Amino acid sequence: MKMIRSPQRLQKILGKERLRKKTVGFVPTMGALHEGHLSLVKAADRENDITVLSIFVNPSQFGPNEDFSKYPRVLGADKRLLRKVKVDYLFCPSVPAIYPKDHATCVAVGAELAEVLCGKFRPGHFQGVATVVAKLLNIVAPSRLYLGAKDYQQATVIRRLVNDLNMNVRVRVMPTVREKDGLAMSSRNRYLNPEERRRALALSHALFELRRCLLKKKGTLASLRTQTVRKLEKAVDRVQYFEIVDPATLAPLKKIQRKMAVLTACFVGKTRLIDNVIISFP
Ligand code: PAF
Repeated sequence: MKMIRSPQRLQKILGKERLRKKTVGFVPTMGALHEGHLSLVKAADRENDITVLSIFVNPSQFGPNEDFSKYPRVLGADKRLLRKVKVDYLFCPSVPAIYPKDHATCVAVGAELAEVLCGKFRPGHFQGVATVVAKLLNIVAPSRLYLGAKDYQQATVIRRLVNDLNMNVRVRVMPTVREKDGLAMSSRNRYLNPEERRRALALSHALFELRRCLLKKKGTLASLRTQTVRKLEKAVDRVQYFEIVDPATLAPLKKIQRKMAVLTACFVGKTRLIDNVIISFP
């Protein structure tokens, strides 16, 4: 695994690899890696000749009161974890390398995708994500991009970015990797103390239970949603949102339909956790 900090150097190296007809799989991350990230690397390795993983804590996707400064930066541990998989290039640019002083361009995302669900509570977040992902895709120019389904709204925004801006890359969204007890793996899980870690389980349990009830048609969408939120509110400190939406458009649903996405964000202590399930009738 070769670590590269300069965008220009990586562009040059990957340009040569592409001339040799090598396909490139790209896994963008903010570090604090876990098994979820490793599953993306494994998929990239299976489907491409070369795997690139980036670690960049992107300031433009954090709000002023969010955890940018305390976001875990653990490059040594990340590199050790990456020994378990095959990464050819580890790209770790500095903030000025990605956002030089005169940086003036960003990607605006339509309100229907960027200002709902997480975006309602994190203004500017998806503009920051879309901008950095567009920049990273221009630097790496991969054949395939690997994202985790845990960040469902992010994956939806990035799919649309790639489509709307005619980018020549296939977006591969891989299943959420969970701890044995069901908690979705997340870099932010490390903020939880043991008592919060126990209560954090309520998110996946609520989503799985709702999926069971919906598949068995045990009530209306509205009644099942209300019951689930009530239960969840007893376990976590705050349910920021809990929505049942169309999986493609993220528009809220009033009635049960063949395919639905259920997404939630909750605070457990000071930690904000997100999770989701997709419900699909056969
Ligand atoms: O999911 C993440 O880690 C980030 O949002 C991403 C896609 C690397 C962009 O900064």
